Amino acid sequence: MGLRISPSILSADFGHLVDECANVAPNADWLHVDIMDNHFVPNLTFGLPVVNALIGRVETPIDCHLMISDADRWAPGYAEAGAKSVTFHIEAANNPIQVAKDIRAAGARAGMAIKPGTKLEDYEDIFPHLDMVLIMTVEPGFGGQSFMSDQLPKVKRAREIIKNLDLDIWLQVDGGVSAQTIEACAQAGADTFVAGSAVYSTANPRKAIDDLRELAQSATDSSWWCAH
Ligand code: DX5
Ligand code: ZN
Repeated sequence: MGLRISPSILSADFGHLVDECANVAPNADWLHVDIMDNHFVPNLTFGLPVVNALIGRVETPIDCHLMISDADRWAPGYAEAGAKSVTFHIEAANNPIQVAKDIRAAGARAGMAIKPGTKLEDYEDIFPHLDMVLIMTVEPGFGGQSFMSDQLPKVKRAREIIKNLDLDIWLQVDGGVSAQTIEACAQAGADTFVAGSAVYSTANPRKAIDDLRELAQSATDSSWWCAH
């Protein structure tokens, strides 16, 4: 079972962004880039120009997490820019199936993110159009928040839907993922893990990534959902 660790550069030093990306590149599967518009979430990061700059300078595939309103209008542009995965929030999309189609048509994997307060069951019919589902394990907007363990049943439910529909979809968790919480995420069914502060706020980010992967792998090996 392949697992993926996607360090979030939200916790990196923005004054040395390219170096910070290069530092984790040998160990990271993806680079998680959080786009915030101070409208969908109460925080502002960066947008397409910065993503463009990173894509030209960083070899690790970019995993864009769009915490922005009007995903229908803006999401495909990130795929066109060369992000290999583009995740929009279901709460910010008018026609989510069309957004997923547009992202795929522009050459990226299409992801759908869901906030802690949003019910997953209402969106099951969108799953067949997706390459990834992101279950938020904090309220989106800021790094360094505490993991919401009450979201684990939703991760489990998402894994059940993926299994029942026999889909090839990655299941990502984002928010408060650390050495203390990643095993519970893996046991619940996650296979793709975003970690910001648990990577960048340590003395050795590359080792932190490897340690997280090892914990997730051993929890997955003994989990209910992983076919042996
Ligand atoms: C929060 C972002 C996360 C954030 C995670 O809204 O989507 O990607 O960087 O940070 P940590 O891992 O520190 O919770
Ligand atoms: Zn994120």
